[in-house]
Amino acid sequence: MKQFYQSYISGIGHYVPEKILTNKDLEKMVETSDEWIIQRTGISERHIAAEGQNTSDLGYQASLKAMAMAGVTAEQLDLIIVATITPDMVFPATAALIQDKLQANNAGTVDIEAACTGFIYGLSMASQFIETGKYQNILVIGAECLSRITDWKDRNTCVLFGDGSGAAVVSRAPEGSVSRLIDFYLRGQGRYSDLLFLPAGGSAKPASEETVKNRDHYMKMAGKETFKLASTNMANSIKALLKDNAVSPDDIDWVIPHQANLRIMKMAARMADINEDKVVVNIDRFGNTSAATIPIAMSECVEKGTIKRGHKLVFVAFGGGMTWGANLLVF
Ligand code: ACO
Repeated sequence: MKQFYQSYISGIGHYVPEKILTNKDLEKMVETSDEWIIQRTGISERHIAAEGQNTSDLGYQASLKAMAMAGVTAEQLDLIIVATITPDMVFPATAALIQDKLQANNAGTVDIEAACTGFIYGLSMASQFIETGKYQNILVIGAECLSRITDWKDRNTCVLFGDGSGAAVVSRAPEGSVSRLIDFYLRGQGRYSDLLFLPAGGSAKPASEETVKNRDHYMKMAGKETFKLASTNMANSIKALLKDNAVSPDDIDWVIPHQANLRIMKMAARMADINEDKVVVNIDRFGNTSAATIPIAMSECVEKGTIKRGHKLVFVAFGGGMTWGANLLVF
């Protein structure tokens, strides 16, 4: 791809709320078992936001950490992109609320909605603003309070989701830097929109007594169909992106997949010829936090030192829409 400047991740950070909900806790809420959840999903526990703690609060905390690592001040931010399906409100954008908390007074603000693929879309968009030379520093946040749209009476979905946030600062790379966002691959198929969706609260089905009674303000998912589409399209995204850039799976140091289900991650890696040892997994402790899973996992690895500057990475995700895609980068 033609690039005028290089963009790179200059800082990364994450934040999860304190409260932990274990599988044992869920056993008391719905007909399920710790064993079933671990076997079928790989999840042991997830974090849940406190009352009054909203998506913008989680995003704000992760942003502070990412900005500290990048050495970028709030005034130096040109744009804030928030990927979320659980904004504080339908509008204004959660990005505007985070901008105010940060006092990032020179930044534009926008939310994007690509469900679990949101962080990948956000990172890809940010790279383009930087590479054309228009902007120098963009904050990309994946933040979710999925607990607020989870039906805690539906065992098919409630065992899967958690709350959390991760943020990255995308900056213009210094000349000669090896670190850079190399390329991205983005796809969507609206014909699958009814496999994973939240029926009420939009213009099609505004909130009413009826929608509340029918529990239509909670996520609905066709698990099996989603599972198949997720594994195949995550694998295809990796393969297409590597092929486009003439990169072999052996050249990749780490793959960070969206943490939806351990079995999906393993299957996608196998289908894309990626060695399982290179796949970053933390779903056991956080569950599926949608747009936040990839930056949370990345931030943890950077903190632990397993991912280092110079490592070649692939991010890959799949989510509601349906949407899917991948990023290829050198950290
Ligand atoms: N505890 C115990 N039993 C359960 C539970 C539970 N929590 N949930 C379902 N079951 C039962 C089912 O009722 C079914 O019972 P039956 O055979 O008597 O009908 C049985 O377990 C098997 O159910 P399946 O749906 O076949 O289970 P599966 O192995 O497919 O796992 C799961 C279900 C975990 C939901 C899986 O399909 C999945 O992970 N799907 C994809 C999720 C995903 O990737 N989402 C995309 C991103 S999310 C986003 O964008 C916000």
